[in-house]
Amino acid sequence: MRIVQILCRLFSILLLIKGEIVHHYYWRDYMGYLPYDGVSFEGVYVAQIPGHGMLPASFYPETKEAVSEVFGKKLVSKIYIKILCDPNIENFYWENTTTDDLSFDKSDNLVVGGIEADIPLYVGRIFHEGIWKISKVISPDSRFRGYRGWNNSTGTQHHSDNFEVLKYKRKAISPRC
Ligand SMILES: *[C@@H]1O[C@H](CO)[C@@H](O)[C@H](O)[C@H]1NC(C)=O
Ligand SMILES: *[C@@H]1O[C@H](CO)[C@@H](O)[C@H](O)[C@H]1NC(C)=O
Ligand SMILES: *[C@@H]1O[C@H](CO)[C@@H](O)[C@H](O)[C@H]1NC(C)=O
Repeated sequence: MRIVQILCRLFSILLLIKGEIVHHYYWRDYMGYLPYDGVSFEGVYVAQIPGHGMLPASFYPETKEAVSEVFGKKLVSKIYIKILCDPNIENFYWENTTTDDLSFDKSDNLVVGGIEADIPLYVGRIFHEGIWKISKVISPDSRFRGYRGWNNSTGTQHHSDNFEVLKYKRKAISPRC
């Protein structure tokens, strides 16, 4: 028994050194009420809605609507909404960045918010038109790189090269010893 525990500890230390990371977050279907472990910031929930793939979005509890951007337009959905969940909101943090500075290395631990065509989408936000808008951040592999949100008054796409990106705190995988 002791030997097993010692080996397990050694294994955890090894993983720690290797920098293996585990994400504990998950997405829950929005069924008309907000999940107790839903992740929100300043009253806006991190959501996901279907578009041309699965898109990171803002969920606004006041209107019960999720909003994102697709094909250059604002996309509003009242159905098929998923909410980002995690029992510990402390696992997340926002970081100021720019389109050129943002690194998409695995070790940078960006929260993956969806996928469009075959391009992964990350989660970004800006304070725009008096509200926080959580929307997609597209990798540099795409010519649409950077933050893509919407302009509320015109319903068109709003692009920004300065934004905050959602990251997950580094966490080593700890096997149950
Ligand atoms: C990003 O920068 C803005 C402007 O300086 C600041 O108000 C905001 O708190 C910063 N956000 C983070 C997550 O540091
Ligand atoms: C919204 O779009 C219109 C038309 O493109 C533009 O004139 C306006 O400045 C935009 N508003 C914001 C807050 O970006
Ligand atoms: C955004 O636009 C919608 C529809 O035009 C409107 O109902 C809502 O009040 C607007 N919200 C903000 C924050 O401007």
